[in-house]
Amino acid sequence: MNNRTATPRNSMDAFWMPFTANLAFKDKPRLFVTAEGMYYKTADGRQVMDGIGGLWCVNAGHGQPRIVKAIQEQAARLDFVSSFSMGHPAAFELAGRIADLTPGDLNHVFFSNSGSEAIDTALKIARAYHRIRGEGGRTRFISRAKGYHGMGWGGLSISGISRHRTDFTPLLGDVAHLRLPYDPAVSAFSRGMPEHGAYFADELSTLLATVHEPASVAAVIVEPVTGSGGVYPPPQGYLKRLREICDKHGILLIFDEVITGFGRLGTAFGAQALGVVPDMMTIAKGMTNGAVPMGGTIVSADIFDTFMNRSEGKIELSHGYTYSAHPLACAAALATLDVYAEQTLFDRVAKLSGAWADAALSLKGVKNVLDVRNIGLLAGIDIAPRPEEPGLRGAEIGQRCFDAGVLVRPAGDTIMLSPPFVISEAEIKRIFATITEAVENTV
Ligand SMILES: Cc1ncc(COP(=O)(O)O)c(C=O)c1O
Repeated sequence: MNNRTATPRNSMDAFWMPFTANLAFKDKPRLFVTAEGMYYKTADGRQVMDGIGGLWCVNAGHGQPRIVKAIQEQAARLDFVSSFSMGHPAAFELAGRIADLTPGDLNHVFFSNSGSEAIDTALKIARAYHRIRGEGGRTRFISRAKGYHGMGWGGLSISGISRHRTDFTPLLGDVAHLRLPYDPAVSAFSRGMPEHGAYFADELSTLLATVHEPASVAAVIVEPVTGSGGVYPPPQGYLKRLREICDKHGILLIFDEVITGFGRLGTAFGAQALGVVPDMMTIAKGMTNGAVPMGGTIVSADIFDTFMNRSEGKIELSHGYTYSAHPLACAAALATLDVYAEQTLFDRVAKLSGAWADAALSLKGVKNVLDVRNIGLLAGIDIAPRPEEPGLRGAEIGQRCFDAGVLVRPAGDTIMLSPPFVISEAEIKRIFATITEAVENTV
């Protein structure tokens, strides 16, 4: 046991912060006290532009009055009711409104409270679906390198980010990973989806022909655009080919749309922007504009009907959370959908994405910039790591941007961006000018 006594016992000590270097943070805290539109205000009175939409979630900008009011009114009207064999009207209305936005026959929503729960729900539904249909041997999942699917055991097991996994093994055994479909030698600095790389999908066929019997595979699960792993748009034609291979072998295709859902690519879901309809989608984040935790798993009519036809009057899926369809979350989500529609924010993303790509790609040629990837209102910028100190240059650039009043998200030596959709063209230019200066001034 480590008897270190150096932990500062100050007023911040009790909160064990997630995904944070706790001791370093508490030595130099970064506290935000208010937020409105594109901007946070810090405890020391500085205004900081939010270049990451909170954490890929505040799509409509902070403090949208309609969402605030809906939450306040709902809290006063009905604070809580369980969704286990009872319910409240907003939950049903919300599921219907979401189904109206989805592609194909993805028209049933199972509510949870986070992306992680949405993923674990999807994995459970996939296995149970096959079992009900007499194919209980389909237990395996195939995901992808650099995939992020939350921190539950299921999501972590299919994760493709090794530093997230190492402390926690053994994870679910029945998981295989496809390669990241990206070759920087031919695709670096692509505008939107890389032209080359549909062939990466053929690796799935090879896996099924050699290592994993198709009849052992329940689902292939991917983010349509890899997000937290560094922002990698799929190569043109890649997702379509994955869809065809899954269809050929009776394997479900799941899109983790926790980041791409609710407008990030200029359409309601990434599936529509990318032209491929999966069998399930997981959602969270922009669902409530980040204002109340909520997640959801959206399934096709075929999947839903398979469960409903199972046995009349009995519980069809033994699964759920105390806070599934929480009244405050439903109220926030309904108001969020109103805001997206009234302010035509998904169209705004489609319109701004050209200016966004131009500004992002202006970093090509800047010292130490190895690659820039972009799609919709997402971008990832790879910075050359210092040979002996991988990650430090990225962290320093992030700090310089913050000091200059722009919040970006460094992960290792990749700087990631996902601003609210209310961003202006001038603010887009400011974000990338700030990053350029920070990169140029960092040794
Ligand atoms: C693609 C994806 N899936 C799942 C999750 C997990 O969501 P949560 O943190 O709400 O559990 C995230 C979070 O960033 C995500 O980006």
